Amino acid sequence: MNTTPAPIIGGAIARAAAALGAGELREETLLRHIAPLFSRVLKRSEIYLANHSLGRPLDMLESDVREALDAWYTDMDGAWDVWMREMATFRNNVACLIGLGRADAVVPKTSAGQGLRAVLNAIPAERPRVISTRAEFDSIDFILKTYSKRGRAHVDWIAPRERAGSAPLMETDDILHAISAGSPDVVVISHIFYATGQRIDRLEEIIAASHAKNAIVVLDAFHSAGVIPVDFERIGADFALGGSYKYTRGGAGAAWLAIHPRHLENPRLRTLDTGWFAKRDTFGFERPEEPLLATGGDAWLEATPAPLPLFQARSGLQLVLAIGVERLRRFSLEQLAFLESELISAGLGVRRGGPTPEQSGAFLLVPHDDAHRASAALKAAGLNVDARLGHLRFCPDIVTTSDDIRRAASITARALMNR
Ligand SMILES: Cc1ncc(COP(=O)(O)O)c(C=O)c1O
Repeated sequence: MNTTPAPIIGGAIARAAAALGAGELREETLLRHIAPLFSRVLKRSEIYLANHSLGRPLDMLESDVREALDAWYTDMDGAWDVWMREMATFRNNVACLIGLGRADAVVPKTSAGQGLRAVLNAIPAERPRVISTRAEFDSIDFILKTYSKRGRAHVDWIAPRERAGSAPLMETDDILHAISAGSPDVVVISHIFYATGQRIDRLEEIIAASHAKNAIVVLDAFHSAGVIPVDFERIGADFALGGSYKYTRGGAGAAWLAIHPRHLENPRLRTLDTGWFAKRDTFGFERPEEPLLATGGDAWLEATPAPLPLFQARSGLQLVLAIGVERLRRFSLEQLAFLESELISAGLGVRRGGPTPEQSGAFLLVPHDDAHRASAALKAAGLNVDARLGHLRFCPDIVTTSDDIRRAASITARALMNR
């Protein structure tokens, strides 16, 4: 499989997106044409602003998954053709989402962490030197700490800087300094940090500095893919990790590892995380002593894949591609500006992860000393947000209305400030 990807989008989603017209997204047209695709989840009475954590599913997700099951009930082993076709579609659409010119360079994984381990287990060094940050998501943090503890990696951690009146900030200069002062094999860094929403600044400089040291860069794009154009191939990171359960509304289990095409035939980067789907001829059932790998990205596949999550991921990914990430981002920035002004008018402190809206992701922060208790109180009052490291996180999505935002601000003020 080695085709130039173009989005594969089903009829109902293509029609709904076309009905929006070509211009900027507007609440009124989104409610008319897109909200009906979410009728089940929109029946819930609470205001849902935890889209940065678990995205809202389209109604058709259920029938997509049923399609995978129907194929099994009716065709038994014939279902594999249907399942493998969906895998090809998933790889194609993720490639489109992140600006990658080869669909086979996307390797389905069940989690981002699985993707990270596949990369770590491909580094030729016995104990690779890793540079990463204290601001990575728990899964990445825990895996790196486990590799370090077991003597399978040496990790240098860079901490964000505490700043009065703002969320802790990762400084690109600190990262560049660590790279130039060390001799890393791998640099693992988020595109947008999970707890604060800060978008890493001068990413291309970090990548160039890493390459100057012959280090590979693993970009965690979980909070950027579907939110901002990732442009993975152009920016030149070596690997990217992501998954479907937030901004592409595909639920858990459909994650991915993306490989820069320059590494697809790189014999020095061959992962130990392998299995018979990575064989040159999976269904030839030959067993030569030399494990012969498939070509291109298929060499990074593993054992028998899990097809159902790929069906589950289908509709959300298609919706994002059909509407377009740039337009979604502009709409999200407008919504966040409105939410910010409503929260401020209600007397609340608000923070963005980065110094400007453009240097921040898809959610806003409200600082709170006991953020977990505060998020439980808000949930009880009908507003679903979540809490990380001393902040509440608020993330509207395309079916969040201005009225939801106004009400969210007043619920927050009432619950947290007794107003
Ligand atoms: C930045 C980031 N990376 C990765 C993940 C998920 O990691 P995994 O799929 O390994 O559980 C998340 C989930 O919140 C995240 O925010």
